[in-house]
Amino acid sequence: MTATAFAKWVPEVERCLADLLPPATQEPARLHEAMRYSVMAGGKRIRPVMAMAAYEACGGNKPAEVLPAAVALELLHTYSLIHDDLPAMDNDDLRRGKPTSHVVFGEALAILAGDALLTLGAELLVTRPKGATYLAKRSKAARMIFRALGTQGMAGGQALDLAAEGAGDVKIEELAKIHRMKTGAFLEACLFAGGIWAGARSESLAALKRYGAAVGMAFQVVDDILDATQTKETMGKTPGKDAKTGKATFVKAWGIDGARRHADRLLSEALRALSPLGDSSFALRELAHFVVDRDR
Ligand code: IPE
Ligand code: IPE
Ligand code: MG
Ligand code: MG
Ligand code: MG
Repeated sequence: MTATAFAKWVPEVERCLADLLPPATQEPARLHEAMRYSVMAGGKRIRPVMAMAAYEACGGNKPAEVLPAAVALELLHTYSLIHDDLPAMDNDDLRRGKPTSHVVFGEALAILAGDALLTLGAELLVTRPKGATYLAKRSKAARMIFRALGTQGMAGGQALDLAAEGAGDVKIEELAKIHRMKTGAFLEACLFAGGIWAGARSESLAALKRYGAAVGMAFQVVDDILDATQTKETMGKTPGKDAKTGKATFVKAWGIDGARRHADRLLSEALRALSPLGDSSFALRELAHFVVDRDR
């Protein structure tokens, strides 16, 4: 299934990514090559698309000004994927249908490519959208995003995820916390940032926050389901790894059907949260369905 927002934004996101990354011909060429290799391998681009959809849902009408900031979110996400795949973390050798960064470039360059994507993403977020009119919005959005990537968000969640590996049964509350931190917080922040760049009213921001919390959790619950049910060809990553390494997942806790029911509950919650935004939230509505119905 393809949502309208993907058709609208993905080609622009791809173009902008290619423009913003340092050229592979420039020194240090191998590092630049590694950055491009992972970023341009073709992910779903859901975080920038979500941010742009939130921006428009909140009345934003200068998308060209905001796009580079939204695209920075994809650089930050790709950093997290490269590091997540490292031997010291999930030890995966396939990502986005290609051998992982450390397999192709070696561990040192993979770590550095992740670092450099994180810092480039950060630089973009403190400088885009350009201009004095965005000064306060820029810093508010950037602070939100950085917080979502830190110890109370992604980095902290990844630490808890690794600590829970093979630890036997994990309580549902602990599992939900890991998922919220490692995946939900950043997705929620991407949506919120879109609202901030648009100058959204506090009621709209609150709606985005509720929507983001539900969709962010659903995203990782479905990721767990796909790991247990999908093929390598469809997903572009190796399935069955979660069970093999004893990851704390919703599939492990509730089985595939239980995890699916939970994803459906979260979808309803996400859709309900959008009601204050009215018709302008059509794209976000579609995106929530995509998150839950996707097969990759
Ligand atoms: C995978 O993210 C990592 C998680 C947070 C579950 P995506 O499923 O968005 O991966 P890409 O960007 O499409 O490759
Ligand atoms: C990843 O969760 C969360 C990140 C912060 C990258 P997973 O480890 O389940 O993601 P995949 O399945 O490798 O994409
Ligand atoms: Mg992981
Ligand atoms: Mg992983
Ligand atoms: Mg996974």
